[in-house]
Amino acid sequence: MSGRTCLAIVLAAGEGTRMRSARPKVLHAVAGRSLLGHVLAALRAAGGTGIAVVVGPEREDVAVEARATMPGAQVFVQTERRGTAHAVLAAKAAIEQGADDILVIFGDTPLIRPRTLETLRAAIAGGAAVAVLGFRPADPTGYGRLVTQGAELIAIVEHADATDRERAIALCNGGLMAFDGKIALKILERIGNANRKGEFYLTDAVKIARDMKLKAVALEVTEDEVSGINTKAQLAATEATMQQRLRQAALDAGVTLVAPETVHLAADTRLGKDVTVEPYVVFGPGVTVEEGATIRSFSHLHGAHVGKNAIVGPYARLRPGAKLEADVHIGNFVEVKEALIETGAKANHLSYIGDARVGAGANIGAGTITCNYDGAAKHRTDIGKGAFIGSNSALVAPVTIGDGAYVGSGSVITKDVPADALALGRGQQTVKEGWVKRLRGLKSLGKKKD
Ligand code: UD1
Ligand code: MG
Repeated sequence: MSGRTCLAIVLAAGEGTRMRSARPKVLHAVAGRSLLGHVLAALRAAGGTGIAVVVGPEREDVAVEARATMPGAQVFVQTERRGTAHAVLAAKAAIEQGADDILVIFGDTPLIRPRTLETLRAAIAGGAAVAVLGFRPADPTGYGRLVTQGAELIAIVEHADATDRERAIALCNGGLMAFDGKIALKILERIGNANRKGEFYLTDAVKIARDMKLKAVALEVTEDEVSGINTKAQLAATEATMQQRLRQAALDAGVTLVAPETVHLAADTRLGKDVTVEPYVVFGPGVTVEEGATIRSFSHLHGAHVGKNAIVGPYARLRPGAKLEADVHIGNFVEVKEALIETGAKANHLSYIGDARVGAGANIGAGTITCNYDGAAKHRTDIGKGAFIGSNSALVAPVTIGDGAYVGSGSVITKDVPADALALGRGQQTVKEGWVKRLRGLKSLGKKKD
């Protein structure tokens, strides 16, 4: 929005009792990000907005999440839950700072699009004192109804207070509103609580603005954008909608999703051009995959980076801090955590690589384990360029394997191995000629005795 300042007030003081959870509602996650995080991300994308988050008493966890997502956010506590207008006024000090536009957003509507926020603000820039988002839900029970006259919004009537005629109105209040910052406080402070619930309804702002001879408008959006989450079932439905959006965005960006409906993405997953994701892959938060890489079926990635043309899976697990450079191969039943795997290195079968560096072109044999934890502390393993680790080796950290070194299979390596050296860390093989034959003979003798 060119030149205009904006304050967004995010209401997040609700208890969310219908979630039946110890966690506050706005901290539940969709696509790996909290509901509050989604709302704040939409605000950030819309740009140029100061943010005030209204939280309930003793909800330091919500305040922490708000500040973590938006370091500049101001947090206000609504000490008693007395209605949406009362909640907005908890942020009075922020309103008094005098932004041109004031947006009010509920913290439990993660599907809101930045563009919609801009449209609401455009209505205020265009001369309205109050702008409201309307939608037509399949079942309008419980929502405020928008009473209109032509293009004008006359009033919002809450379901509990509506007459039968008003309840027949299909256009409902989505809950998000914008105000002209110059008169917002004057309107908000006139709101009373003479209604069925005895609450201070933000929705009364429309009628009050009209009484002040100011203009109110409604903008219609689709239901998914404004649907608030109250229950675990709605949380799951929202997850499904969000996944569809994320998959579509990935496809539009040139990613190949072989079976899109089976791929689970996080809100911040970044997939480059010509990345192929096979069926049944899960992306937790914080994953980037560069151009041309392939993520094969049944892999689980979280907090990981996959370089160009790398191949991951099937059945691979990349945990936080896994950094794969270009052309790396991580195969089936390989787990990587907090480890840099340099260009072209391979770990194709049944391995754990944690707190490590694997040098360029190194080959990690099947069953190799970096023993990073001694029961008290974590230690690092450093594997040099072009090293070869034979199958079923245990590298007991802290330990360094030099460039080009060769570790014989089945080794337990507890001391550093110099570059280009061969290390065998296993017991000597013993062979007893004819031993089995003799054993069989003893057994058959035993049988004869019976
Ligand atoms: C509200 C609207 C209704 C609209 C509906 C859309 C009002 C009066 N009604 O009703 O017209 O159709 O949303 O979903 O605004 N909150 C606080 N403190 C409070 C009360 C609420 O922070 O004291 C927060 C809640 O956490 C929630 C939001 O405000 O994020 C909305 O409150 P809620 O009780 O869900 O309002 P509804 O009855 O759904
Ligand atoms: Mg609600």
